[in-house]
Amino acid sequence: MGISKNKKVFITGCGGMLGKAVYEKFSPHCKVLATDIDLNEPWLEYGDVIDFQGILEMARKFKPDLIINLAALTDLEYCERNPEITWKTNALGAENMALISKKLNATYIYISTAGIFDGKQEYYSDFEQPNPISVYAKAKYYGETVVERMLENYFIFRAGWMMGGGYEKDKKFINKIFKQILSGKKELFVVNDKLGTPTYTVNFAEAMFAIVQTELFGLYNMVCEGSCSRYDVALEFIKLLGLKKEISIKVVGSDFYKNEYFAPRPDSEKLLNLKLSARGINFMKDWKNCLKDYVECFKPYLENSS
Ligand SMILES: NC(=O)c1ccc[n+]([C@@H]2O[C@H](COP(=O)([O-])OP(=O)(O)OC[C@H]3O[C@@H](n4cnc5c(N)ncnc54)[C@H](OP(=O)(O)O)[C@@H]3O)[C@@H](O)[C@H]2O)c1
Repeated sequence: MGISKNKKVFITGCGGMLGKAVYEKFSPHCKVLATDIDLNEPWLEYGDVIDFQGILEMARKFKPDLIINLAALTDLEYCERNPEITWKTNALGAENMALISKKLNATYIYISTAGIFDGKQEYYSDFEQPNPISVYAKAKYYGETVVERMLENYFIFRAGWMMGGGYEKDKKFINKIFKQILSGKKELFVVNDKLGTPTYTVNFAEAMFAIVQTELFGLYNMVCEGSCSRYDVALEFIKLLGLKKEISIKVVGSDFYKNEYFAPRPDSEKLLNLKLSARGINFMKDWKNCLKDYVECFKPYLENSS
């Protein structure tokens, strides 16, 4: 499908980190109905992916050409403690939206995660066999399989360590580091035994926008270029904030955080965008360049605090 002013895009879970970038990328080019259960923006309407009839009615009225399902519970510890709501949101929600896409003959985009692998090998291409080890990842992987079983006109994009959304919306590593800095911490404890591929939401949304128009349907790993450890990301971040002299980073192992971050995590979540590259549609950029862009939205908070 080409994206133009008369095309309609229905987005669920659009109030989160990725939703912000997706809304900003798509809404100038087509009609967007953005929904979430957390109405944190004036452009969001209430929509719960667990409520099949409710979300079907909304979608039916809107008549989307494309459905983008971003709705998920993404806090791994919360998911571990609350498996039922996790399965309902991340797996049943994915299935509900696939069913609705089928009923309404709309293309479907589902976002999966590098976390579906067990991390026993270092790199994972699109063709490796997933083996999820946490409740979050098991439910996300179910989402992948149900979409593949049910639909033909679908995209599954697997993201890595998400960075994006800024101070207000980023629930993940970058903002966790930033909040420690803002609170005055001069020494940060960061693990170097967890490996992955950062994924910048703005770049990811741009790539989604371009790829959906190719109609090269299927499942794709879609992460930024270059891979690293959590320590590498933290170091680059403080460097870009201009705080390398003020803040020191102490390397620790995952054991250091075993009580706080008790959900099982793969040692390596490094993805390779093998299919995107082979098809000439790999629009993902180097993670360090993306972080250079992203860091700008944190700088004003530092200035205000000093
Ligand atoms: N964040 C990552 O590191 C990461 C990595 C790989 C893949 N992904 C995937 O990327 C997609 C987007 O996630 P994100 O990073 O933008 O996470 P996010 O910031 O947590 O956004 C997800 C949004 O979905 C909402 N939501 C939760 N339950 C819902 C429901 N029943 N119906 C509708 N909306 C619901 C959340 O609301 P609440 O805030 O109220 O829960 C939140 O606003 C998800 O599929 C996620 O699994 C994320």
